[in-house]
Amino acid sequence: MGLLENKVAIVTGGGSGIGAASAKRFATEGAAVAVVDMRMKKAEATAAAINEAGGHAIAIEADVAQEADVARMVATTVEQLGGLHVLFNNAGTLRPGTAVELSVEDWDLVMAVNVRSVFLGAKYAVPIMEAQGGGSIINTASISGLHGDGGAICYAASKAAVINLTRALATDHSPNGVRVNAICPGTIQTPPVLRMMEEPGALERNVNAHSLGRLGFPEEIAAAAVWLASDESSFITGEHLVVDGGLRSQSPLGRLADPRPSHLR
Ligand SMILES: NC(=O)c1ccc[n+]([C@@H]2O[C@H](COP(=O)([O-])OP(=O)(O)OC[C@H]3O[C@@H](n4cnc5c(N)ncnc54)[C@H](O)[C@@H]3O)[C@@H](O)[C@H]2O)c1
Repeated sequence: MGLLENKVAIVTGGGSGIGAASAKRFATEGAAVAVVDMRMKKAEATAAAINEAGGHAIAIEADVAQEADVARMVATTVEQLGGLHVLFNNAGTLRPGTAVELSVEDWDLVMAVNVRSVFLGAKYAVPIMEAQGGGSIINTASISGLHGDGGAICYAASKAAVINLTRALATDHSPNGVRVNAICPGTIQTPPVLRMMEEPGALERNVNAHSLGRLGFPEEIAAAAVWLASDESSFITGEHLVVDGGLRSQSPLGRLADPRPSHLR
């Protein structure tokens, strides 16, 4: 018996990386999955892989920053899969830049894709979940929402907004059985990150920043998402779960030098 048996889930950004791994894992755990992405071919590939493996998935093309698309995404899911128990607001984007470098258009785009999407997802999913007696919404935030990553100020601001929006949504809707939580991944090996790791020194810097001495895999975020989606986390709401291989907890000093004189070590 899977953790998500008889549940219907939407996974946004399901065409790639964390979303694709999560859609597949949700299906393995018994959920019928709507794989949502603005790149339809990618969404279709994930849905096809799930169906070929014996699961049940549909693909939906939607831009999660657009209200009409999100409304259609939820309506199509309910119509074709018979309900909605889990919404994984995972699609996200990053535009690099300091305040001086970043354009206003890029600021607006990142805030719309990363933050407005979470608001819109809740706007359309919550009434259905509440009418059904409950549900679980999971939002992909980031370690960047917990500290001031330079060079991508809008990304950092948007992910901090996702964390606090998660808390506010939980305050409003948990009394009616809708739990809302966020996940803060460290550096995960997905296509955009692997491209970033091609910069000289980037891979070594990132590996060293994680206590586990490696980058994470999308499947390791999917495992956290399944748990938050399932009734196994039934008393958890308004939280952000850090899944970062020790990136945040690691001291910048690493191991402290041994203070004892050398003859006593
Ligand atoms: N990979 C990491 O290290 C990392 C770390 C922290 C947080 N995150 C977050 O995880 C989430 C997934 O990222 P990923 O690394 O798997 O990236 P990815 O590029 O592999 O997957 C993201 C998917 O989202 C889709 N997408 C982007 N904008 C969209 C939109 N407006 N509407 C619908 N679909 C859209 C893309 O087409 C893509 O398929 C993002 O929110 C990202 O910010 C990633």
